[in-house]
Amino acid sequence: MERIQINKHVSYSRIVHGFWRLNEWGYNNKQLNDYMHEIVDRGITTMDHADIYGKYTCESLFGEALALTPNLREKIEIVTKCGIILPSDHNPKFDGHRYDLSYQHIIESVDRSLLNLKTDYIDTLLLHRPSPLMDPDEVTRAVMHLVDEGKIKAFGVSNFKCNQYELLNESLKREKSHISVNQVEVSPYQLENIEDCTLNRMQQHDVKVMAWSPLAGGEIFNENNPKSTRILEVIEQLASKYNVPASTIIYSWLLKLPANVMPIVGSSKIERVDEAVNATKLQLTDQEWFDIYVASRGKDIL
Ligand SMILES: NC(=O)c1ccc[n+]([C@@H]2O[C@H](COP(=O)([O-])OP(=O)(O)OC[C@H]3O[C@@H](n4cnc5c(N)ncnc54)[C@H](OP(=O)(O)O)[C@@H]3O)[C@@H](O)[C@H]2O)c1
Repeated sequence: MERIQINKHVSYSRIVHGFWRLNEWGYNNKQLNDYMHEIVDRGITTMDHADIYGKYTCESLFGEALALTPNLREKIEIVTKCGIILPSDHNPKFDGHRYDLSYQHIIESVDRSLLNLKTDYIDTLLLHRPSPLMDPDEVTRAVMHLVDEGKIKAFGVSNFKCNQYELLNESLKREKSHISVNQVEVSPYQLENIEDCTLNRMQQHDVKVMAWSPLAGGEIFNENNPKSTRILEVIEQLASKYNVPASTIIYSWLLKLPANVMPIVGSSKIERVDEAVNATKLQLTDQEWFDIYVASRGKDIL
């Protein structure tokens, strides 16, 4: 599988696996550990998390499973996020729903993630969402401290628009650092980050793009949603032409974007992981890509 270089210390597999829904999968530690090995055997080594996934439970479930075969740690890259606070019985400080990108919260959050994931470093820390209260220099101070301590190897953001990216990146640059990754929602169903030029700007600045909810969280298969049925009609025609499942067409549509987008698979089923991996071998034509794009827009290009 193709690798994408994130910085001089970290590279990702072109297809990433996400663990947002892990607490719904019903895997015990052994089953999850087996699943992780199956993913890695297919060349997917990058595993996406956030502190809040599963109401603060998914990192621990993953860490317990990882601990069954400690040598797996060196074969994978762990991405996790911080910055969203949800009310939680586990921590009295989490008494409301807000964003917190303060120095103290970032440092404490990483320490909790390291404990939960049973690892002593995180390959990439992302800020989960931009906050209107973000002080970029405070974030920079936290990032520099975490890098110095060897707790994170790369730093990035998620759901940042261009101006928010620039505000923070300018501060990091003053410390000879930078944002390496932006994880945003992109799919044939969700074009916003294509149409508002976020992907263009990331490409311009060599910021690597991870695409969350590549299948729109499963919504693209909802036969009761007119937008989904419109897009799926085109995708199904291409699926029969290439003799692959619809999801393989969707992943290859994402892989064709020049920003070198890395789709994050959200499934718990290895056959669906294979559908993503197979997309790396399929090249849609430009016309096929535009047919899906136009179906999503609901109106022709000019
Ligand atoms: N940064 C952020 O703000 C953010 C936000 C959301 C997600 N993420 C990351 O992105 C990852 C992927 O997101 P996602 O889980 O929404 O990905 P997704 O691939 O768009 O959606 C996965 C969901 O679609 C279902 N699905 C897959 N194939 C299907 C099919 N053929 N028919 C019907 N349903 C199907 C899956 O069910 P099965 O399990 O049954 O296959 C699963 O419930 C997450 O795990 C997380 O790491 C990040």
